[in-house]
Amino acid sequence: MTKIAPSVLAADLLKIEQEVSNVDKAGAEYIHIDVMDGHFVPNITMGPSVVKAIRDSSPLPFDVHLMIAPADPYIVAFAEAGADIITVHQEAGPHLSRTLQLIKSLGKKAGVSLNPATPVETVLEVLNEVDLVLVMSVNPGFSGQAFISKTLKKISIIRQAIDDIGRDIDLEIDGGINKTTSKAAIQAGADVIVAGSATFAGGRRQYAANIRGLRNDKRG
Ligand code: DX5
Ligand code: ZN
Repeated sequence: MTKIAPSVLAADLLKIEQEVSNVDKAGAEYIHIDVMDGHFVPNITMGPSVVKAIRDSSPLPFDVHLMIAPADPYIVAFAEAGADIITVHQEAGPHLSRTLQLIKSLGKKAGVSLNPATPVETVLEVLNEVDLVLVMSVNPGFSGQAFISKTLKKISIIRQAIDDIGRDIDLEIDGGINKTTSKAAIQAGADVIVAGSATFAGGRRQYAANIRGLRNDKRG
């Protein structure tokens, strides 16, 4: 089944606790939290204290996407703040495998993310060590950017590789996802759909319909 992971970056941040609870009630499976450092990406967002502050707003898994370099010095803090899945970028450090082992040693699920320009082979090298692969379908940094459709090819290749090794690994896509691009991503093999703008469009009464639409549920 496809899981929907609203990116809270696109929520009403003055009401972030309610927004997390709203999307939980609207049917989301994960809460996607975008962490940016103004160095690895050209934007600054939230840190472990925000993760901790919203932790009690929903029992759903917190899917924490670290767009920071270096990542290693902050992983313990995000684990202690209540992250369930911690995803680092392949491009963010020289020792990806060590970083993934650190995340797992803290009892958390480990994810690896790839920027649009990063070759898919780099992730195949660590497929046995991860619980989630996050394919970026925009250059990370901001909500509301246009989907880069050539990244779908990466989804198909990674889907095949995951099926070949037969491990339970989430294949997540993030950036520029709406009803249409979500359908294409699911067809290519994605099973976790991150969506910021498309989830939070139209105010909280729309969230359930937005999520159904992203799932490409016929009732949507
Ligand atoms: C981009 C972030 C995304 C972003 C998604 O750097 O990783 O999670 O917030 O936003 P939309 O769905 O609006 O493209
Ligand atoms: Zn993200």
